[in-house]
Amino acid sequence: MATERAQWGSKLGFILAASGSAVGLGNIWRFPYVTGENGGGWFVVIYLVCIALVGLPILMSEIMIGRAAQRQPVGAFAALEGRRTAWSGVGWLGVVAGFIILSFYIVVAGWAMDYTLKSIVNFTGPMAAEARVEAMAYRADTPAVEMRETLIDAETARQFREVEKEITRKVRPSAWKAYQEFESAVAKASNAEHARAVLLEDAALRAHVEVAQPIAAELEAAHLSLRQRVSQSFDALSEVEIRDRAEDFTRRSAIRSRVEAAFGAVAGDGWITAIWTCVFMLLTILIVAGGVSSGIERACTILMPALFLLILVLVIYGFFMPGFREAASFVFKPDIHELRPSGVLAGMGQAFFSLSLGMGALITYGSYQRTKRGLAGESVTIAAMDTGVALLACLMIFPIVFSFGQAPSAGPGLVFMSMPLAFAEIGQAGMLLGAIFFGLLVFAAITSSISLLEVVASYFIDERGWSRRKATWVVGGLVLLLSMPSAFSYAPDSFISGWTASYGSNFDFLSTMDYLASNWMLPAGGFFISLYAGWVMPKHLRNAELEGLAPALVLGWLLLVRFVAPAMVIVILMQSIGILDADELLFRGG
Ligand code: PHE
Repeated sequence: MATERAQWGSKLGFILAASGSAVGLGNIWRFPYVTGENGGGWFVVIYLVCIALVGLPILMSEIMIGRAAQRQPVGAFAALEGRRTAWSGVGWLGVVAGFIILSFYIVVAGWAMDYTLKSIVNFTGPMAAEARVEAMAYRADTPAVEMRETLIDAETARQFREVEKEITRKVRPSAWKAYQEFESAVAKASNAEHARAVLLEDAALRAHVEVAQPIAAELEAAHLSLRQRVSQSFDALSEVEIRDRAEDFTRRSAIRSRVEAAFGAVAGDGWITAIWTCVFMLLTILIVAGGVSSGIERACTILMPALFLLILVLVIYGFFMPGFREAASFVFKPDIHELRPSGVLAGMGQAFFSLSLGMGALITYGSYQRTKRGLAGESVTIAAMDTGVALLACLMIFPIVFSFGQAPSAGPGLVFMSMPLAFAEIGQAGMLLGAIFFGLLVFAAITSSISLLEVVASYFIDERGWSRRKATWVVGGLVLLLSMPSAFSYAPDSFISGWTASYGSNFDFLSTMDYLASNWMLPAGGFFISLYAGWVMPKHLRNAELEGLAPALVLGWLLLVRFVAPAMVIVILMQSIGILDADELLFRGG
């Protein structure tokens, strides 16, 4: 049986396919916005540490398990143990996780396809033109005093975000939250004085309010003095300058609301989203049905170099943007104040998702390799490519974000709502850049989605004896079915639009799938995989895979998979459950 098993055509083919799996929406869509939300610099450092201490050792473990077993995840543990044991459950967890991740991944990838086509026809062009007219009308019609106030408010709000972070850092997060709830309850009450008195009968709440109130007062004072300073900075401006600025500001907000509405129109239209989702799934199925070497490997050897080229073009473009320096310092200059303990946890979750770890994608890919050499080198190359693309993605996105005065912490919409806004401002060249950018996102997504489908399909091929064609079409069809609730989750009045899951914040259906798979299943899978490779895997099999590696490296790897990686994963899982709130626990006060 082993002789007829599919194999990669070459070592390079394996490396490109595995990096293709790793490099995906996680790098270009997720990493920049997570970095933005976590304040840049330090988060990047933490992420790199997570990659080195947790990601890389687990990556090695997965490839090792796959290579030694020559089976996909469910069969792999049984093959290595010589019989079915509870470890096979880890394989099952992977199959289910792959199924779930794929179901929302193809929806996001479908939007990227839609945006690629739209960029080719320059969909932001008319928006930019309308916005220009609107801004001119505003300029012509609005008294300068009113413009001045609007500009001051906007600039104050922009600068205040930093100040607010700085000040609220002094109060314990739980106390601050309790205080905010208290204030909104009071605001709702018909008699504020009475409401305050009654609510403060609760001693615990009173304690929170007592510490939070001075901070709230400080915030208010800071806002006032900031507004004054901003207002003074406007004194030197002539009326014409004010009008110029106001026109510019209005034009940008007008484009922004149009671009946002355009994304809302796509995401909010379940049928359009569903059609794109189908198209993307179809492409994925066709490639995977083509086989390991002539389908997956061939696609990756074409798409990956193309991807690197496109990224290079955008980074070079970004280099000449006025915001490049600010962007580079945001990404690469750690500011100790921005370091929050929960950032460590976000960094670890991102490392799992981005490296495709914890669900056996690399066990599966590794199983199509028969060599017993080069494990460490291959793993380092894959991790380095993944990390490189993530950092480059930041370098192409943030210069644009900063040059157009946007907030880096815009969240998951960063790619679909901010990038087109920037492309609209650039004009004609923006159309080309937009098409390149979203095309790149599609390429990156497809080399990842094929690895997700391969994990699930290979179960039916390896363990159930199905033909590859049957397995890919049946599994692909089922995934498509499960993807429908995700595709319709932003459509108003659809069967699923009322869905809310509440884990800390409220999630729609798509985000719920992402959350469950990425924050639970992948870390849990990674935990067991590292324990298995470190403690359980038969020694002679493990040693065969590690042959030729320097003893010090082997020892280092063992220490990491046995102790460091599992311990760090347990910490994230506890944070996800909510047993442990790192920001709260490590709050140092003052
Ligand atoms: N690593 C892929 C990305 O960054 C996502 C993925 C996760 C793929 C898990 C396979 C398995 O987009």
